Amino acid sequence: MSCHKKVYITTPIYYVNDIAHIGHAYTTIIADTLARYSRLTGLDTFFLTGTDEHGQKIEHSALARNKTPQEYADEISATFKNLWDDFDISYDKFIRTTDPEHKKGVQKAFSTMFGNGDIYKDVYKGHYCISCETFFPKSQLVDNEFCPDCGKATTIIEEESYFFRLSKYQDRLLAWYNDNENVILPKSKRNEVIRFVEGGLTDLSITRTSFDWGVKLPDNMNDPKHVMYVWLDALMNYVTALGYGDDEEKMDYWSARVHLIGKDILRFHAIYWPAFLMSLGLELPKHIAAHGWWTRDGEKMSKSKGNVVNPKEVADAYGLDNFRYFMLREVPFGGDGDFSQKALIDRINSDLGNDLGNLLNRLIGMSGKYFDGKVESINVEKYYKIELDKTDEHLNNLEPLIFNMQIHRYLEELWRPLSVANKAIDQYQPWNLMKEGKQEEAMALNGLIANILAKVSIMLSPVMPQITTKIADSLSFSIDNNSWQGMINDKNLLDTFVIEKIPPLFPRIEEKLLETPEVEKKKKIEPKKEKKSNSSTTTEDGVAFIGIDQFFQTSLKIGTVVQADEVPKSKKLLLLQVDVGEKENRQVVAGIKEWYSAEDMLSTQVCVVANLKPAKLMGYLSEGMLLAAKDSSGLSLIIPEAPKQNGTNIG
Ligand code: MSP
Repeated sequence: MSCHKKVYITTPIYYVNDIAHIGHAYTTIIADTLARYSRLTGLDTFFLTGTDEHGQKIEHSALARNKTPQEYADEISATFKNLWDDFDISYDKFIRTTDPEHKKGVQKAFSTMFGNGDIYKDVYKGHYCISCETFFPKSQLVDNEFCPDCGKATTIIEEESYFFRLSKYQDRLLAWYNDNENVILPKSKRNEVIRFVEGGLTDLSITRTSFDWGVKLPDNMNDPKHVMYVWLDALMNYVTALGYGDDEEKMDYWSARVHLIGKDILRFHAIYWPAFLMSLGLELPKHIAAHGWWTRDGEKMSKSKGNVVNPKEVADAYGLDNFRYFMLREVPFGGDGDFSQKALIDRINSDLGNDLGNLLNRLIGMSGKYFDGKVESINVEKYYKIELDKTDEHLNNLEPLIFNMQIHRYLEELWRPLSVANKAIDQYQPWNLMKEGKQEEAMALNGLIANILAKVSIMLSPVMPQITTKIADSLSFSIDNNSWQGMINDKNLLDTFVIEKIPPLFPRIEEKLLETPEVEKKKKIEPKKEKKSNSSTTTEDGVAFIGIDQFFQTSLKIGTVVQADEVPKSKKLLLLQVDVGEKENRQVVAGIKEWYSAEDMLSTQVCVVANLKPAKLMGYLSEGMLLAAKDSSGLSLIIPEAPKQNGTNIG
């Protein structure tokens, strides 16, 4: 950990056009975990969350419900705040972009950027995606019309606009990424951003005249028909929340130790935001950490499918801390995650019930039976130094993992002492120690278990604050910076205590507790049983298994057919020119003419095997193959469910 005493942690501010779902809960729970961790370890922490309330999208949603945007924003913003309060999210401030102090700060930023020559007025003409609140150059659109991010149709907008000189910051941004290897996490995302910036930055339109619902320009600009672009407005929340442009009271928390975001909004945070900060002369954030996307049972969540996971329902049914643990343990940070009740139940029954809960039950049972509940640490070092040292060693490995966002690894590592404890019971068998009259050793073993549980609970408390408080109560200590200092840093042991019996923390869950959505019912997946022999080298239909590495040797890409012709004299072949996001189109000779005409194929998106050795078919060079499936009813091409940018990798 660096020597920064003050730590500032943020979530994105959530749009108020929808109510909170599991994706929002995920970002917030990670941020809450980091904030709790940093408080636990004695750092002066400020944790910010809030709502993003301006823009055309919100204006539309409000009008559709016959409400003013402000009424609508008030209503939805409150649902987010209530949910976080229900979830005991430890935020220090909940900001709303409709707060007067925030608007003041955004105006101050605009004036500063204008004053230093970074803003100029011009005319904007281009394709705008209302859903993503983003302009896209034509070259990035799918089929010249659709948004490359969400797939919805874009609208052409031509209006007078103020521009921010983003292009001016290209080199400084690249230098910043270069000098700060860990600024964008996970590192794989860093390369994406660098490539994008190297591709060239164009100046950014930062005001709109086509709607009203936004922060006005500062009065002295005398240009009342403009409102600020929502992303300028929204990003500024990270400093206005600390008083920027107003009382500046909390600005000593700046800059952010980490901005937690989802991967879909990385570009705004890793490119626009630092460029704005450079223009304002403010420090840049230390980390921008982008997590992956959550799906449900392998499917994208959407209202129309009725499969959106409501975080409150899940937490109510399965327990808030269990839900938190599942989300953070199940998915490596940055990767996509799938929510299924089965996976959640497995985590609860196995990691939490078997490994953690049972250990406490065993301790309560043993100390009750042999020592009237008394637990002493006095002889732990004498008999079980090896186990104690191992535990401390595992706990010492945790620190670097947390702010590098390897939270699933943090939890994995934290489970190792639990297995040290469970193994010690099996190995030393307290019931035999008692039979052999080795009471001191048996008591020391209980002491070992209690101390491992206590230490693990302290380090687990940022992830599972409620459950670990219960464990600590049962072990007669409190989790706070003092106990962290004493038991983790200084490796102290618990004082003698009498254990409190508590009901099992993780009663076994036998079946799903939430009604399953239609999609899940239809599938009726039978849980797979482990096969008797796992020595098989082929799948059921005799195809050889391959490793994931072998699979990734195949380059599969999305492409769009930009020209389609028949191959003269061939009944089967079409000659296609496919744009797979490279400089030159690929020519593909495809045996699909019995099912698709050249006309059908034009402008169709396809999946292309892009690293096949070129081959000649009927005298034409074929530089790829299309994915298709054929059964008795004919052949169907495999195509993406929603339009995707040409060149997107499949895998
Ligand atoms: N208002 C902007 C953020 C402005 S920050 C200055 C915004 N809001 S959002 O409500 O659409 O999304 C907020 C966060 O929720 C994003 O980080 C996004 O990645 C996350 N998620 C929304 N749906 C998600 C999933 N299905 N899975 C995981 N996270 C996703 O963007």
